[in-house]
Amino acid sequence: MKLSDRTRLIKPSVTLALAAKAQVMRAEGIDLVNFTAGEPDFDTPQRIKDAAVEALKKGMTKYTDVRGIEPLRLAILEKYRKDYGLKYEKTEVLVSCGGKHALYNAIQAVIDQGEEVVIPAPYWVSYSDMVLLAGGTPRLARTSEESGYKITPEQLKAALTSKTRAFILNSPCNPTGAAYGRDELAALARVLERHDCLILSDDIYEKIVYDGFRFHSILAIEPKLRERTIIFNSLSKSYAMTGWRVGYVLGPAAMISAAANIQSQSTSNATSIAQAAALEALTGPQDEIAVMVGEFHKRRDVIVKRLKGMPGITCFKPQGAFYVFPNVRSLLGKTANGKKLSSASDVVDYFLTEARVLAVPGEDFGSTENIRISYATSIKEIEKGCDRIEAALKKLE
Ligand SMILES: Cc1ncc(COP(=O)(O)O)c(C=O)c1O
Repeated sequence: MKLSDRTRLIKPSVTLALAAKAQVMRAEGIDLVNFTAGEPDFDTPQRIKDAAVEALKKGMTKYTDVRGIEPLRLAILEKYRKDYGLKYEKTEVLVSCGGKHALYNAIQAVIDQGEEVVIPAPYWVSYSDMVLLAGGTPRLARTSEESGYKITPEQLKAALTSKTRAFILNSPCNPTGAAYGRDELAALARVLERHDCLILSDDIYEKIVYDGFRFHSILAIEPKLRERTIIFNSLSKSYAMTGWRVGYVLGPAAMISAAANIQSQSTSNATSIAQAAALEALTGPQDEIAVMVGEFHKRRDVIVKRLKGMPGITCFKPQGAFYVFPNVRSLLGKTANGKKLSSASDVVDYFLTEARVLAVPGEDFGSTENIRISYATSIKEIEKGCDRIEAALKKLE
């Protein structure tokens, strides 16, 4: 069958593919340490599940407004008002089937053929493919471990051209865990103020931050960017709700309306009972988040310490999210079982075959010398995985 040209532009999500591979290996009885998870290992809090059950019992099983049920949209507006002092109207929010879907719709709504989107690399795997699907061109701005994996104002200035339509800001970042402080955002805002492009702010890890770090919205810092900023968020990570598929986008009414039209011609509304659960998540007690973040914090400290102690690996200490992105450059060129390690993918393959540890290669995140390890797993598993990696490293020649 002839497939559309569009399908040739993109590849399947590597993170989802590897998570599926890990499941198959475990089902086959292989004692695998799985470091691929892009989701909290905690269960969705009971009060949220109960809200969905209640909605189901009450017969909330029909289509809803494409944009989402009104109480949920109002709860989202209230959250952004309370957390960051940002005021949005009902016409400026759209609930979608996960944050990924919210980003997809919005990118379809604002990017035209040939327009460039500046993406600091390393970046979350789906940004570039979503831009390609919209006919746009991803323009990567490489950051390094030395610069804390953050784009500098100078770099941003150099990356913005007359073709730039948008800049993607993801803080805290998947895969590096880097998060921008207030002053850093203010400096980026000063550059963006002078360049007429959109700012796509993916806030999905806003609540998962460590060491007293405070998340700031670039818009709260520079309100002049209001008409050009689009905010994305999701219930997935903060409330351990990845499978429920509820995310949302906030932005100027015309853009929201266009994204809602796209959604109305594809998925229609996010699942009705998942919306009821999301409403409870946002409006009920928020204590579960702190408990979860406390756990992630302990795990981050363990894994960073372990990785830093390994020869040939350097590891940036993340300020947020639940991933580390160790640099394995020094391992490239070494030999394992007669085979030379030439790429981050080779290192991942080696850890899988030799140590039964599965990580994600950096290539799809825009880095050839890093691997992504998720610490959304128990400290016991983290220690076990690190012991195995350490033993495998000793065998390299
Ligand atoms: C940076 C980032 N944005 C968006 C998403 C989308 O998440 P979801 O579609 O589950 O809301 C993810 C998921 O891994 C992510 O890491």
